[in-house]
Amino acid sequence: MNDNALTIALSKGRIFEETLPLLAAAGIVPSENPEKSRKLIIGTNHENIRLVIMRATDVPTYVQYGAADFGIAGKDVLIEHGGDGLYQPLDLQIAKCRMTVAVRKGFDYPRASQPGSRLRIATKYPGIAAEHFAAKGVHVDIIKLYGSMELAPLVGLSDAIVDLVSTGNTLKANDLEAVEHIADISSRLVVNKAALKTKYALLDPIIQAFAGVVNKEAV
Ligand code: ATP
Ligand code: PRP
Repeated sequence: MNDNALTIALSKGRIFEETLPLLAAAGIVPSENPEKSRKLIIGTNHENIRLVIMRATDVPTYVQYGAADFGIAGKDVLIEHGGDGLYQPLDLQIAKCRMTVAVRKGFDYPRASQPGSRLRIATKYPGIAAEHFAAKGVHVDIIKLYGSMELAPLVGLSDAIVDLVSTGNTLKANDLEAVEHIADISSRLVVNKAALKTKYALLDPIIQAFAGVVNKEAV
């Protein structure tokens, strides 16, 4: 890989929107809007800096293998991925939400989740869900879904879901309620460990510019 070039992994949607001001602070302006383009590789105002656009869940993988030098990923995705080969210097305080357990209104969760009991959990986050319920001593059958988890308890696929909640509007619209908080979630800067060494001179000013925006020192 070219040591004078940088590849940045980003996902479309809320992370991209909230990343634009961070990129701007580092003097990086995408040459196209990925929301409107089908292109997966997008140039910037710097000849040696490009963006690669992918699913949010794939960002850690591209950065881990060095196909991207750094990227931005939700803590939810990072916990589930495991974080191997990734340096996580900065909480960017964007795409904030909470990982929660939610059930149908009226479902007796305290009773159903006593130690030793058994629950069916639908989630996009099997690792996080398994760890949470193991710590409580509750046996779980985990059903992996890829989106719209809220549907599962409504049609009898599961007793509960483990999913992200922000405004609470999706739960409310579907007569569900949050019954347990698992973790606060926000998006993190993830940097390939080898790139941090070989491209330090290129990467450090960008990391510091991002840190300036979130008003924190990069660790
Ligand atoms: P994919 O479509 O690739 O499966 P996704 O639909 O989860 O991923 P986004 O909805 O763009 O992708 O979410 C990206 C990240 O934003 C998530 O990993 C999470 O950290 C955060 N996030 C998800 N939902 C919310 C929300 N409702 N409010 C704030 N942040 C959220
Ligand atoms: C996320 C999450 C919830 C919703 C919560 O879904 O999975 O369904 O946001 O947000 P709220 O509390 O503000 O209503 P998203 O919009 O990303 O859709 P998807 O992951 O199912 O594609």
